[in-house]
Amino acid sequence: MLLEKVVAIVALSATLMDGSMKAALPDQNMDGTAFLVNRQHAVSKYFEPDTRKVNGPGMSQAMRPDAAQALEEMFAAAREDGINLSIVSGYRSYSKQSTIYSRKKAEQGQEAADRISARPGTSEHQLGLAMDLAKKGSTQLNTAFGKTDEGKWVSAHAHEYGFIVRYPEGSEDVTGYMYEPWHVRYVGKALAKELYESGLPMETFLSGYKLEVYDYLIHQATNEVLP
Ligand code: DAL
Ligand code: ZN
Repeated sequence: MLLEKVVAIVALSATLMDGSMKAALPDQNMDGTAFLVNRQHAVSKYFEPDTRKVNGPGMSQAMRPDAAQALEEMFAAAREDGINLSIVSGYRSYSKQSTIYSRKKAEQGQEAADRISARPGTSEHQLGLAMDLAKKGSTQLNTAFGKTDEGKWVSAHAHEYGFIVRYPEGSEDVTGYMYEPWHVRYVGKALAKELYESGLPMETFLSGYKLEVYDYLIHQATNEVLP
């Protein structure tokens, strides 16, 4: 009986890991698309992904090839809807992020810098999966972008191409950063859709799903071993 339960639990975990839940669990490897990087989850200063130049208007920037391809598709779809986006900042090495963070800190002080700029080793830009966007002809990154037609389009459609607006409005206590309507993160289409539909920041979504699976398994196991 106990053996049957254990087999059932293992089978259930396998199903969950293999089905849609798989997309909800963070990747354990940095080459995946759900790898979580934030203040609590840093990457090594030596981590450098494979990247290629992203084709499109704006600055000459690189991303991981899977993200670059998806972003180019997103730009093409936006153009068809009369929305012209441009590239501002994609892959950033540890040392580039270090320069940016130090500059922000010198300009605004550490507290303000920490709300808008990741310390080196804690930026998704180092993964090669993040891109900062503006409307064509601009390099401005500010919250007003969220109110423009371009920003609204990104917010409504980015998930169709595997991207999420990573730092949503009102989520600073969870993500650690102010609203950044311009910063999109590639997570792949399946996870992007789930995140979009959940309306949750990446941290909440991933930890919530993990806890549900663990809670269920613990509950099943406990029922079996208790008298
Ligand atoms: N602006 C985001 C948080 C970064 O620096 O990666
Ligand atoms: Zn960014």
